[in-house]
Amino acid sequence: MKICIYPGSFDPITYGHIDIIDRASKIADKLIVAVLNNHDKKSLFTVDERVEMIKESIKEYGNVEVESFDGLLVDYAKSKNAKIVIRGLRAVTDFEYELQMAQTNRELENDIDTVFLLTNLKYSYLSSSIVKQVASFDGDVSKFVTPQVADRLKKKYNKYFV
Ligand code: PNS
Repeated sequence: MKICIYPGSFDPITYGHIDIIDRASKIADKLIVAVLNNHDKKSLFTVDERVEMIKESIKEYGNVEVESFDGLLVDYAKSKNAKIVIRGLRAVTDFEYELQMAQTNRELENDIDTVFLLTNLKYSYLSSSIVKQVASFDGDVSKFVTPQVADRLKKKYNKYFV
């Protein structure tokens, strides 16, 4: 069984991520979307909220699971018996960072390979950071995230305004 891991911060999940999940789910027998419990990075959403939002977005996929992980990605991948890490590439500007991560992961664990999927052109400009910026100014994020995520963003930022 080909188990693939799609790791990320997903703070929050966007249509760009969902597009990668959709295509990766057709390559993998089982796809695990793995949310990093990033202690050093200031996330808008807690790791549990991020996992919940992804679960709400992927209900139609029978072979996709969502989990959170701590520590090194390669250790987590090994614990799941996964040999393939999936990452999305939006533009050439993503490449340097992705190359560094993929090569580091391969030095750490030679058995684990990274497979890059090109993000759909219509989402190539999209990032969680941009979505948060638009939402923080009460802008319309309906083209970028699911209605459930848009709702949670609204609640999160409204809380900061009161
Ligand atoms: O969505 P992001 O923030 O670009 O995802 C980055 C992620 C989670 C894939 C990366 O930071 C990661 O794998 N972190 C776990 C720690 C680790 O394994 N580091 C060594 C490889 S860079």
